[in-house]
Amino acid sequence: MKAKFTQILYGGDYNPEQWPREIWQQDMELFDEAGINSATINVFSWAKLQPSEEVYDFSELDDIVDMLTKAGKQIVLATSTAALPAWMVKRYPEVARTDYGGRHHKFGQRHNACPNSPVYRHFAKELASRLAERYGKNDNVVCWHVNNEYGGECYCENCEKAFRVWLKRKYKTIEALNKAWNLSFWGHTIYDWDEVVLPNALGEGLGFRGEDEDGTAFAGISIDYRRFNSDSLLENFKMERDAIRQYDKDAAITTNLMGTFKGLDYFKWAKEMDIVSWDNYPSYDTPWSMTAMRHDLMRGLKAEPFMLMEQTPSQQNWQPYNSLKKPGQMRAQSYQTVAHGADTIQFFQLRRSVGGCEKFHGAVIEHVGTAKTRVFRETAELGAELRSIGASIIGAENESKAGIIFDWDNYWALEYTSGPNKDLKYVDQIWRYYEYFYNKNISVDMIPVDADFGKYDLVAAPVLYMVKEGVAEAIEKYVADGGTFVTGFMSGIVDQSDNVHLGGYPGPLRKLAGIWAEEIDALAPEQSNEIVFGDGTRKQCRMLCDILHLEGAEEIAQYGDDFYAGTPVVTKNAFGRGCTYYVGTVPERDGLAKLLDMVCDEAGVRPVIAEETELEVTRRVTETQEIYFIMNFKDQELALPGVFAGKTDILTGRVLTADEQLKKYEVRVVSVPRA
Ligand code: GLA
Ligand code: ZN
Repeated sequence: MKAKFTQILYGGDYNPEQWPREIWQQDMELFDEAGINSATINVFSWAKLQPSEEVYDFSELDDIVDMLTKAGKQIVLATSTAALPAWMVKRYPEVARTDYGGRHHKFGQRHNACPNSPVYRHFAKELASRLAERYGKNDNVVCWHVNNEYGGECYCENCEKAFRVWLKRKYKTIEALNKAWNLSFWGHTIYDWDEVVLPNALGEGLGFRGEDEDGTAFAGISIDYRRFNSDSLLENFKMERDAIRQYDKDAAITTNLMGTFKGLDYFKWAKEMDIVSWDNYPSYDTPWSMTAMRHDLMRGLKAEPFMLMEQTPSQQNWQPYNSLKKPGQMRAQSYQTVAHGADTIQFFQLRRSVGGCEKFHGAVIEHVGTAKTRVFRETAELGAELRSIGASIIGAENESKAGIIFDWDNYWALEYTSGPNKDLKYVDQIWRYYEYFYNKNISVDMIPVDADFGKYDLVAAPVLYMVKEGVAEAIEKYVADGGTFVTGFMSGIVDQSDNVHLGGYPGPLRKLAGIWAEEIDALAPEQSNEIVFGDGTRKQCRMLCDILHLEGAEEIAQYGDDFYAGTPVVTKNAFGRGCTYYVGTVPERDGLAKLLDMVCDEAGVRPVIAEETELEVTRRVTETQEIYFIMNFKDQELALPGVFAGKTDILTGRVLTADEQLKKYEVRVVSVPRA
C-alpha cells in the first residue's frame, strides 16, 4: 500500500482571493454539500502576498487557511510563483522571458518567468520559504503544489549563459561538443564556448512559423537545449521544494504535470517529486484510450498511485470546441482516472471566475452561485460515492506484465528529424500500440528506457529512434533471459547526440532483431501498402515502409505492393531464451491487432478478465483485494461480463446479475478477495 493521503482528496483549485468575503461562507456550505474535502489554494496570488519588493502580506491567506481549516478541509497549498507580479517585471525586466523569435516579453500572462534569472529565483525561493514557515505546521496542509504547470522556453541572455555552463559540464571540451553536434556539417565548427547560441529562430531554428518551433538545422543542439531547459525548470522546482522542506518535514511536495506534454523530461522530474500529480483535459474527440495512456504514463513516472490535480467538472474554455460533459461523463472519466491509479480527484475549479479568459471554464459552483445545477449535483453524487468507497481503493496498485517504453529524448529527437515523413508523431505511434492493449483490457505500464525490464513478459518500444548508451545491452539481456521485445521502423537509428549509429539500421538493435533495414520509404497520406501475413490475410499499412533483409530472423509477413512487394515487413528473431519482433511499417489498427494477438499469446500476456468485452475493465490491487472498475465508454449498451455476475457492486451494495447491461458512461466497481 502506497497511499500518501488519509482519504481520496476530492476538491480542486479554489480562488477566494478573487471574491468578496460574503461569498466565502457560502462556499464552505456548498463544499460540504458537494462532499468536497479539500481545496487547492494560492495558485496565483503572488501580487497579493508580496505587493512590493519590501512588503509581504499574508493576512488574507491566513484567513483563507483558517477558514478551510475550521471547515475541516484538507489543503493543497500552492506557492504562487507561476505568474510574476507587475512590480517585479517593472523593476527587473530580466525576470520575463525572451521567446523563440527573440522578443523580450513585458508584464503579462502567466508561466512567464525566466528560469535562469537570479532575480526570479531569489524571490521565488523567498516566497516559498515564507509560506512554508508560516503554514508548514498546519496539519490540514497535506500537500504542497509548487508553481503551476511548468513549461515553455526562454531564449534570453541569462539562459544562453547558463546553457554554456550546462554544456561545459556535460562535454568538458569544445572538441567533444563539436563532435557531439557534428558541427563540421555546414562549416559550423566553433572555437569558444561563447560562440554557442541558443537554437531559436535567430540561430539554428529552421523555418520560423509562428508557434511552430519544431524545425532545426542541428537536432543535436536543439535536443540539448530541451534537456537544458527541462533541467533549468527542474532546478526551479527543486529550489522551492528544498525551501519548503526546511519548514515542513512531512507533507508531500508536488507540481502539476501535463501527461504527454513535450517540454519536460517527466521521468527525470518525477525522481524529485514526492508524488506525481497531473491535469487531465481531454478534448471532445480525444479517444478514451489516449486518456488512459496518459494516466498510465503519469502512474509510470514513479510506478506509484498519482494525484489528479485538475479536470473540469464539465466545460473547458481554451479548446477550439468546448463541449459539455454529458450526464455521467465526468463521473465515468473520474472512475477511469481512479482505475488507472489516481488517489485524488480534483477539479479546476471550485468556483467559476467572474472575469479573465477563464470565465467560460466550467466549475463546481457556476455563475448562478447555487447548488441547483446539473454540474453541482453530479459533483455531489460523485463526492458521496468516493467518500463511501475511497478507503478501500486508496493506495491500491496497478499490476502489469506488459510495458511500453516512453522516452522524452526520443520524443524530441524523432520530431526534430528533417524527413523521412513529416506526419510521424511520437505520441501517436506510442498510442497505436497502447490502444491495442487498452482494447483488450490488458494492463500496461508506461516505462522509461532504464526500467527494470525483467518485471515484464513483454516490452514494446515503437519508434525507439534514439538508442542511448547501455539501452541495447539492457534489452539484449532482457530478451536473452526470456523476454519478448517488440520494436520496428525508425528504431535504433541515432545515438544520444542524434548522430547515426553507422553500419546499417537498426544500429545497435540489428543483432537483436536479426534484420537489416536497407532503405526507408515514405508514403503520403493518400498512399498505402499492404501487409500480407503467412495465412494469406492482407492488412493495410501507411506512412513509412522499411525495406528489410533477414539476418537470422524469420518472416511473419511481407509487403503486398510496390517494388518491394514480397520482401519482409514483419519479422521475428529468436535471441537467447526470448525473441524480438520487428514491425517495419505503420499497420492499420486491425493489422496491428492481428500481430499483437500473436505476440501476446506467445508471451503469455493476458487481459485482466478472460472474457472479451468492449467495456473498459481495469484492475487495481491491494494486498488482500482485487478491485475491478467496469466502465462503458462506447455508444451502445454493453453486457456485463459473466465473471462479475453474483458479485457486489461496491458503489451501490447491489449484487450484479447475469443479464445486466451497462449504458454509456455507466460504471460498476467490484472488489473481490485476491486470487
Ligand atoms: C491549467 C491550469 C489552470 C487552469 C486550467 C484551465 O491546467 O493549471 O490554472 O488554467 O488549465 O483548464
Ligand atoms: Zn531566460
